[in-house]
Amino acid sequence: MAEPHLKPTLRIVDEGADGVDRAFRADVLAGLSQRQKAVPARWFYDERGSQLFEDITRLAEYYPTRAETQILAARGAEFAALTGKGRAVVEFGSGSSVKTPHLLRAIAPAAYVPIDISGDFLRESAASLAADFPGLPVLPVEADFTKKVALPSQLAGSPMLGFFPGSTIGNLVPSSAVDLLRSMRETLGEGSQLLIGMDRIKDPAILIAAYDDPEGVTAAFNLNLLSRINRELDGDIPVEQFAHHALWNDQLARIEMHLVAQRNVAFEVAGQRFAMRSGQTIHTENSHKYDPRSATMLLVASGWTPLAEWQDDDARFGLVLAEASEPRSAP
Ligand code: AVI
Repeated sequence: MAEPHLKPTLRIVDEGADGVDRAFRADVLAGLSQRQKAVPARWFYDERGSQLFEDITRLAEYYPTRAETQILAARGAEFAALTGKGRAVVEFGSGSSVKTPHLLRAIAPAAYVPIDISGDFLRESAASLAADFPGLPVLPVEADFTKKVALPSQLAGSPMLGFFPGSTIGNLVPSSAVDLLRSMRETLGEGSQLLIGMDRIKDPAILIAAYDDPEGVTAAFNLNLLSRINRELDGDIPVEQFAHHALWNDQLARIEMHLVAQRNVAFEVAGQRFAMRSGQTIHTENSHKYDPRSATMLLVASGWTPLAEWQDDDARFGLVLAEASEPRSAP
């Protein structure tokens, strides 16, 4: 099956001799042992989870993908005026066939450098972009971009434009988001810019609908995590005894997704026993939302100064262009 083109990118694979992803097992066992049980959202994206995420992006209620694509399609001339010509576009995560071409067409880049941890997905999407942009050097880098990445030597001296669409930054708690944005700054270097998608704070009813659609696609996406745990970590979690729940946490400005036990349950994962009472939850995802001020705070705390922000027609989603800046310690 062809890989979806809208796969989010915070995934790392570290297989042991038994074929089990060690980091997955460690995260699940540690997360299920906590009082508030939790499994990191990056484990959603097995093959079925990636397909379900792609289905989510097409739902009427899930506006972020359409809103961000609308901004990219409409505001190219404004991006170009601020970035100038000849920047190398460094995309954190393999470029989607939907979003990246709008940016590449708008700003006439010197090169396109997609960075992704998944080599197969990286090569596939790099080849498809290269076919659509003859003459543009496409230089894929297989790496974990949560740490500083060594960029191809051909780029030495070129000004960089980082591209991080999809509001994936929202899936990180603010301290981790700052760490990631700082790593990106280290990778891109002085004089670089960053174009980043950040979903906006809005009416909770719109947010809840986007994360709890009536067709049940997001529910299937959330519940698939339990099926993945059962399959890959030799578990016997009674998946049918859990229900998807999405809530708006107003204090922390984030959507939270949980899996709620519908009755008292006991199960085993990787040889360890766990029990949950009816109503107890496994916290599976945070999706932080930002207003222009909180977006600015996050970026400035990470060494980036916002230059401009664009929003879609319904003001649901923001795309921010920022430049690497020296931190100032005094007013
Ligand atoms: C990948 N990420 C930005 C999505 C989001 O909106 O937080 C993941 C998602 N979870 C449920 N629906 C979509």
